[in-house]
Order: sequence, then C-alpha cells, then structure tokens
Amino acid sequence: MKTSRLLSRILFGLMVLCRLGYGQVAAPKPAEAPKPAEAPKPEMKPSDLVTHGPWLTYPGPGELTIGFTTVPGCGGGVEYREVGTEEWKQAWHTEAGQIFRHRTARSIRLTGLKKNGEYEYRLILFVPRDKKYHEGSFPKLDNTHKTKQTVLVENPDFRFKAFTDAAEPFTFSVTADLQFSRNVKHGILRSYYDKCGLKDSKFFAVIGDGHNDIGSMENSYIGTIIDGLQPIGGASRPALFIRGNHEWRGGEASLWTEYFPAPETRSSYFTFQCGDTFFIVLDSGEDKPATRLTYHYTGDNIDDQAFREEQRVWLAKVVESPAFKSAKWRIAMCHSAIYSHPEAYMYNHLAHICQDLFKKDKPENRIHLWLSGHTHVYSRTIPGTDQIYRPGNYRQVYGGKDYDFTVLTVEGPGGVGDINNCLVNVTVDKDKISVEARTPENALMDAFEIKNDGTVVDLNNDTLLMKKTPANYK
Ligand SMILES: [Fe+2]
Ligand SMILES: [Fe+2]
Repeated sequence: MKTSRLLSRILFGLMVLCRLGYGQVAAPKPAEAPKPAEAPKPEMKPSDLVTHGPWLTYPGPGELTIGFTTVPGCGGGVEYREVGTEEWKQAWHTEAGQIFRHRTARSIRLTGLKKNGEYEYRLILFVPRDKKYHEGSFPKLDNTHKTKQTVLVENPDFRFKAFTDAAEPFTFSVTADLQFSRNVKHGILRSYYDKCGLKDSKFFAVIGDGHNDIGSMENSYIGTIIDGLQPIGGASRPALFIRGNHEWRGGEASLWTEYFPAPETRSSYFTFQCGDTFFIVLDSGEDKPATRLTYHYTGDNIDDQAFREEQRVWLAKVVESPAFKSAKWRIAMCHSAIYSHPEAYMYNHLAHICQDLFKKDKPENRIHLWLSGHTHVYSRTIPGTDQIYRPGNYRQVYGGKDYDFTVLTVEGPGGVGDINNCLVNVTVDKDKISVEARTPENALMDAFEIKNDGTVVDLNNDTLLMKKTPANYK
C-alpha cells in the first residue's frame, strides 16, 4: 500500500470516529492559521477500515478463529452471540494482555462455543485518536479522552455454525494449485460455488500453492484467495489455508503465521476435528533444497531441516493422542504426498516427518485418505499396489505397496488438456467416505468410496479421464 493511501486511510478512520460522535480534543492552532477550505465530506462507513475478510479458519468442536485485516492503527475484535440470544460476548486480538493495534492482521480465537450452535458476529474496531504515551498529559481540557473509541462492522453474512464432535454426516471441499491471475482464480472459485457443490460444503481447504508466491501477503495471497471467497460465503464457511511450496516463496512468505496462526502449534501444521473425523495437516516445505541466506528465493529457509524435525516430534505425539486413537475416520491434508509423487525432495521431508507411522503394518494408525496437490495432474492411487488412476501418460510415479490408503492429487494449471483445476468434494457418512472430483465446469472426473476398513469402491467405471495404468514403480 502506498504511503499516501495509508495516510488517507488512517485519516479516514479518524474521520469515521468523529462522525460517529466521538468528542474531539482541541488541538493548539497557530495564531493566524489560514482557515482551510471546506472540503466535502466523503461518504464513510466503518467497514472501510477492514481491508480484507473476515475469514473463518481453524474450526473445531465448539471453536473457531476469525481473521481479518484492517488499516494500521485499529485494534480488532469480534462480538458474537448465539442466534436468538441477546447478549454479545466480546473477544479481541491481544498480545500479552494488550489490544494489538500494530501492523494489520487480526486473528481472534473463539472457544467454548456451543457445539452445532448457530452464531452471528460483528467486528469491533478500536481506533484511539492520539494517545500520548510519554507526556503524561492526556488532555486536561475535557474528559473526551475517556470516551470509548470503537466502531462496529456488521453484515448479515457474518454468521457460522460451530463444529461438533458428534458423529454426523458432513461434506467438505478441497482444491489446490490455484496459480492463476486474480480474475481467473475468482472465476474458478465462483464456479465451484455456483456449479460444483462448494455452496453446500461445511468447510473448504486450499491445499497449497494458492498463489505463485507471497510477494505481498495482502495483495498476493489474501487479496486473491480471501477476496475471492468473500462473495461466496467466506465470512460464514470455515476455510483452511495450507502452505504449499509456493507459499514458501516471496518477500513476505515468512508472515504466514502472522495471518494464519494455528491455535496450538502457532505454525503451519495442525490438527482439527469435525464430527468423528480427525484431520492432520502437514507442511511438506519447499520442493528443493535451500540456498540459505542468499538472494535466491529459498534464501530465507535457514531452518527448514529443523522445521521438519519439529513436525516429526509433534506428529509422533499426535498419533498417541486420544482424539486420534478414538477417531472413526482419519484424513491427512498436505501439499505433497507420502507416496505416489515424483518429487523426491518433498517426499524426503514427509518420509522424515511421518516415519513409518502410516505404513500398513501399523493398522492402528490407519489413514483413510490423503489429499494433496502440487503435481498439477489429477491422480488417485490404488492402495497397496503400484497402480494409479491418472490421465494418459505421466511422469514417473513412486509406488505405494507399503501403504493401504488412497492418495488423491488434485488437478492444477498446465495439467491435463483444458482442465486446469478441480474441486474435490468429500462426504463423510456413517459407513463410508464418498469422494467426487469435478472440473470447474462441473464435469465429473472421478468418483469412489472408502470403507472404514480401507476398502475402496471405484465408481468411475474407467470413464472420462481416469484410466487404470501401471505406474513406474521406483
Ligand atoms: Fe502448484
Ligand atoms: Fe507445489
């Protein structure tokens, strides 16, 4: 954002407060100051202080994170209440007990929500006029400095339903590799919403490479993904933003956790629960070794080896947790795959992180489905074999004889023919997980079911793009 635009937004925020009735403190004027020309007051509204969002993320039974960005200088919070009740509760983005007014990302974690409860919320912004911290001289002329300086941003779309951990059917949707221009990306997301079932999904996930690089967090990623989701229920449907190798790139890539801080790890890997399904989200890192402390785009990756070790230690604890052990269904989401992808560097990352935890000789850790992206070519493994459903001839494939769960990889730009992306709708039901992959035009690419014992039932009948072809096992 240019400086002049920044200043005008800050001034604009102050004007909003004044207009909404906050007292003004008299500022000393030069004795013969020329009287400024009376400029027409622009039409102002508090929502103009919010630059992106809100978005909902990191959902869990009775909990949720609400994120948004503001002009600099605004403290951000939310007021929320169960639909049909009167009293608003308030929660702020704070750091060590203080409202955080610096920088622009706001992230508010709500906990203790009623499971399956319907909630409405509104944003609350704190825009103090001009604190003078070191002078000890808050204005003595009057008491207006004690007037609360907050504004509310309301919208009928600001509502959500809290997750439950009770077993009940639900559908969620994923995609990845949205490496398109802003307008093309928005068009694809709109199509997924209008034609492909996203409208009815409980949550949405972008499994990495949501943008080509993060040169500017708010223009590159937030401005294309979050802004694209806004008109299609982004303020009411939780979304998971998962880091792919391209989210490791760009001048502001290291701001990822400032915008999307996972509630427990405060990092880019996390778990969550929806109904009786346990989700594991991993970060498979860059797709090539770092050229550390250089101008190269991997130059910032000084700690990637320690980072994968950190995930390994964390994951070993996750699989021992009661929530993982007791879950009826387990789904992993990660930009890369533990098998079937030809990308050796990311595969090695995941092999280190996952160790042998998910191999088929550990049925107690059974994963039912691994959702990934990265290759830009739709594929679906046939568990326990060297075969893979994929269109036409393809590059070398790493086999999966050691694994008894499906790895699904979504379509991406430059992949098969004219198809540049796909939406995968996953329905978790009592006795099966049903999966469908659809093009942005809603053509069915693939369909299958997974039983609780891992058995896969093909529903595609070798139609359309998906042909059973022997993989080049390596
Ligand atoms: Fe990609
Ligand atoms: Fe990728």
